Amino acid sequence: MSHEEFPTDRPAVVTCGLPYANGDLHIGHLRTYVGGDVYARALRTLGQETAFVSGSDMHGTPVAVNAEAAGVSPESFALDWHETYEETFPKFRVDFDNYGHTHDETNVELTTDVVRALAENGHVYEKEIMVAYDPAEKQSLPDRYVEGTCPYCGDRARGDECDEGCGRHLEPGEIEEPRSTITGNPAEYREQTHKFFRVSAFQEYLGAFIDRLEGTANAQNQPREWIEGDLRDWCITRDMDWGIDYPEGEKPRSSEPEAGEGADDLVLYVWVDAPIEYVSSTKQYTERVGADVFDWDEAWREDGEIVHVIGRDIIQHHTVFWPAMLHGVDYEEPRAVMASGFITLNGQGFSTSRNRAVWADEYLDEGFDPDLLRYYLATNGGFQQDVDFSWERFRERVNNELVGTVGNFAYRALLFAHREFGGTPDPEAGVSEEVHDRIEAAIGEFGAAVNDYSVRKVGDAAVSLAAFGNEYIQRHEPWNLIDDDPDRAAQVIRDCVQVAKAIAVLFAPVAPGTCERLWSQVGGEGSPHDVEIEAALEPPTADLDEPTELYEKIPEERVEALNAKLEERIEAAENGDTGDDGNGNDTDAADLDPIVDDRIDFDTFESLDIRVGEIVTADGIEGADKLARLTVDLGVEKRQIVAGIKQLHNLEALPGTRVIVLANLERAELFDVESNGMVLAAGEEADLLTTLDDAVPGERVR
Ligand code: 2FM
Ligand code: ZN
Repeated sequence: MSHEEFPTDRPAVVTCGLPYANGDLHIGHLRTYVGGDVYARALRTLGQETAFVSGSDMHGTPVAVNAEAAGVSPESFALDWHETYEETFPKFRVDFDNYGHTHDETNVELTTDVVRALAENGHVYEKEIMVAYDPAEKQSLPDRYVEGTCPYCGDRARGDECDEGCGRHLEPGEIEEPRSTITGNPAEYREQTHKFFRVSAFQEYLGAFIDRLEGTANAQNQPREWIEGDLRDWCITRDMDWGIDYPEGEKPRSSEPEAGEGADDLVLYVWVDAPIEYVSSTKQYTERVGADVFDWDEAWREDGEIVHVIGRDIIQHHTVFWPAMLHGVDYEEPRAVMASGFITLNGQGFSTSRNRAVWADEYLDEGFDPDLLRYYLATNGGFQQDVDFSWERFRERVNNELVGTVGNFAYRALLFAHREFGGTPDPEAGVSEEVHDRIEAAIGEFGAAVNDYSVRKVGDAAVSLAAFGNEYIQRHEPWNLIDDDPDRAAQVIRDCVQVAKAIAVLFAPVAPGTCERLWSQVGGEGSPHDVEIEAALEPPTADLDEPTELYEKIPEERVEALNAKLEERIEAAENGDTGDDGNGNDTDAADLDPIVDDRIDFDTFESLDIRVGEIVTADGIEGADKLARLTVDLGVEKRQIVAGIKQLHNLEALPGTRVIVLANLERAELFDVESNGMVLAAGEEADLLTTLDDAVPGERVR
């Protein structure tokens, strides 16, 4: 990894976190992919040799669980989704140089080699551990097959991740009060032998690595706590069929193999083979285009600039486990990790089961240009900040910035040039000093944005140049000069065409489709994606055709119609009008946990002090993706309660809502905030329990 500014003379690899091949993509998913695509294109514009790669994440329990529910094999289930993703990304002009998948031959081979090398280098050992087991199903319960309580923060968690609380990766055997997600029954812990990656031995290396790591501040800072704390080894095998086999000859034995299960079922944990796909995908790219065009081996094993673009929920994997693995086999470490914030829809989290989403295909079916969404996702806030999507805001940004600023400037300047001069008047005469300096400043902003890992600022550089263009043409009024001072008018128009050309170059990473049109309108040959940043100052062509508008205004009625459609769909899903959420995700009773067998006596029930409460305040907890701090009036006292509802409810609308509270739950501390009780809620979406009539705060629930 280098600390030199981009562009460097080393090959760069920009990767995007692999989507699990297990469901439809909505526009929230696209944030990371658009961000990665903008960043890779911007690097190339700066002259950096760059490969942009990703692939589908085929293995692991997220896919196995959904495939099982759909009644098909994990392989065919995942392949179907993989093909869908492969077709969807280019529709949004997310143009990977290679998009593979973790189950393809390249990745299976490379993963096997990497794990072998890790083992040969002494970084893997065998250990007996207790793993969750469902005695009724006679099945081990890896990762998402088990749920329980997080041992670190006490919140509800799934087997591999405290997804509702502290966000930590959980190792097999760590989860407390384990419960099988297959039967709903309490799980047992049974002994089994697994392979472990000695992450703890990399503590010193990781401490130095994190000081060198570039990217967004969240990725640079969050891992310190994990690295400097109790860095534990990492179980890299799982007892299941679906996945890549642990390399033969190294296979640990299960202590209690069931018939047809056991040793043969141990596969690598999905988080081993998934990031290796970054390398495999680059290798496939080299195999296709030749090492003289891009050399994966040089990039990954000699001196590449590796930039990972991910969602912030997987920072730990990319800044602790993955760099340790890479270092363990002498591969290049990441130069930067860019971790995006979450995205909400009208202030609430996207929800597949509630159909509260704008689906990727649906957006395109509405006839919107993908560049509009790309612009919104890339620039509506910093990359690591949370972003809210609403059709109102979408319209506002499209109409004001794309239509009003960029499109308006380009169209009026090029139309005037075409009508009065048939194109650029005397292009070789050069631009004025003011315009030259302004374009140079925009080039500087663009370069600084790339080196600052800010896709938003990449977009801003071009849009503020367009705003300058509008102001410039307005200030000089060439339409008033054309008769009295035609030379001056020609200079102003030459300047303006140059600004339009510069916009085509600088805005192309964010709006690749419309900038191709703009590029050809200023007489550019080929595509703005094939030129480097200096082209922004090269003279435009003399003869220009009549331009067309780049963007169209979105009328207000359109937003009303889109909102109505969205609400209708959410309502239909809430009323259970369909057993399917419109995405192939079955939401009917078959998915519900069976009733737990263990009965409790009435006294146990009586010992629960359940009360009616009223929410007084509701605010998100800084740094916690899912947690909100509530003040709840329980009649006799007010309580501070932490609840995992930040993304699931519009917090501003909650005060005044009656809720049901388990008041005598022991106190807990979540993200340094004390939680004194628990607000009861139903289902994955935390549907808050309330009262039908007018029970007052403080009344007991029986
Ligand atoms: O969390 C996820 O969605 C994973 N599929 C991301 C994998 S990224 C990578 F490292 F492979
Ligand atoms: Zn936790």
